[in-house]
Amino acid sequence: MAGPATPTGEGWSSRTAFVLAAVGSAVGLGNLVRFPAEAGANGGGAFVIFYIFCVCLIGLPILLSETLVGRHGQSSAIGSFKNVARESGASSWWSVAAGVGMVGAFLILTYYSVLAGWIVHFIGIFVSDTIGAIGANTLADGALEDRSVAEVQAILPALHANSTQMLMMHAIFMAMTIFAVGRGVTGGIEKVAVWLMPIFFLLIIGITVYGAFNGAFSAALAFLFDFQPARLLDPSVQLSALGQALFSLSLGSALMITYGAYASKEINLAKTSVQIATADTSVAIVAGLAIFPIIFATLAPLSLQAILDGTEQVQGGLGLLFVSLPVAFQSMPGGSIIGLLFFIMVFFAALTSSVALLEASVSWAIRRFNQPRWLMTILLGGVAFMIGGWASFSFNSQADFKPLNFIIFADQPVFGIIDELTAKILLPVSALLVSVFVGWVVDRKLINRENGLSGGMQRIWLFLVRWVCPVIIGLILLTGLFPDLVT
Ligand code: TRP
Repeated sequence: MAGPATPTGEGWSSRTAFVLAAVGSAVGLGNLVRFPAEAGANGGGAFVIFYIFCVCLIGLPILLSETLVGRHGQSSAIGSFKNVARESGASSWWSVAAGVGMVGAFLILTYYSVLAGWIVHFIGIFVSDTIGAIGANTLADGALEDRSVAEVQAILPALHANSTQMLMMHAIFMAMTIFAVGRGVTGGIEKVAVWLMPIFFLLIIGITVYGAFNGAFSAALAFLFDFQPARLLDPSVQLSALGQALFSLSLGSALMITYGAYASKEINLAKTSVQIATADTSVAIVAGLAIFPIIFATLAPLSLQAILDGTEQVQGGLGLLFVSLPVAFQSMPGGSIIGLLFFIMVFFAALTSSVALLEASVSWAIRRFNQPRWLMTILLGGVAFMIGGWASFSFNSQADFKPLNFIIFADQPVFGIIDELTAKILLPVSALLVSVFVGWVVDRKLINRENGLSGGMQRIWLFLVRWVCPVIIGLILLTGLFPDLVT
């Protein structure tokens, strides 16, 4: 066993492995799909600014809190919470914080795999198109050459209409996730991260450079960083940005506690947390700078201006990546190969995140039921597959099934409900409890020994965890869920 022994004998084989695995979990569909979609839907600049504010003042302190509890607790997320609570003389009920997060991670996995399945479907299409283009010697032309714009736009709706295809792709992706998690921390999860993340970084940089030369780069900059102070105060923009910050850093979802438990004692958690948060936030912004120039390049100047003025909305939501982007690739030089590389890049990011999403509950189930890793992985992965499969009917037969008609769930089918419930309720609630626990309940001596901070930094961090995190998360949760309170 290469890694330092934890109670189950599992652990990262090096600090690099830990950082890559944590970054791999953080960087995912959240950065590449959700961030641009939310930025688009919430008016660009105001959202991005509030997002960065949330990452620095809330995300980073909570990231350090979660890894700290995990490494000291040396168990699953729930187990670690219980251990740390016991040592601090507090009630083991505090582990509810991790329990809420674990349920959150599990629910995210259900729909995450469906979305990743779409990515696999698009990879298939781009592969056949690229092969066709090589055969016809038209690789330097746009992608999906033989299809009209309307046909490219129809790929996603056609997939939605085809439940069997969607379920098959979802199954393929879930099977890969189960395979990696079943092989264990060092033998599977770590390997996926160590191999895929470096390739991911090369791809995203390459595509961004391509977009900068071939796309509307300055328009994208203007859009992403356009500052509209009035929208900063919009509670729904705030809740979206907070939810996105937690989601993107994999916080409030038990995972950073779980991964922290696999980290050896020599690792400086404060330094590592800063690296993880910096990498994740950079990827989100770079993803925006990779995607929007390509999309804007295909817009007529008038509608681009309208988007920058805020009088028209960029296509938000999933259509951004699965409709607008393929259409854009169609008219760009080398579009089929760049499109293919783009979707492979998204696929890598999704896989390193989905293994983490599954591991959050697997690591608990192994210990709780004292069962082998493979069995628990297959069982939990199977249940997540079934719930996700049901959620995927939101795109066809159950599109009008909108069971919860209140607050942020109004007008949402099951798929959207799971997304909103996790990002805007479960994750913030779990993060809120984590910050209260670490800020007020955990023994200070334990914290001082564990987190790698001293002097002024320690005081600033403690102030953020004690006051800023709970108060701001609490306020944003309330006003975001019940906007009537502020109007
Ligand atoms: N951070 C992931 C992303 O950006 C999503 C996510 C949220 C996640 N919570 C998680 C991934 C827990 C792994 C574990 O796509």
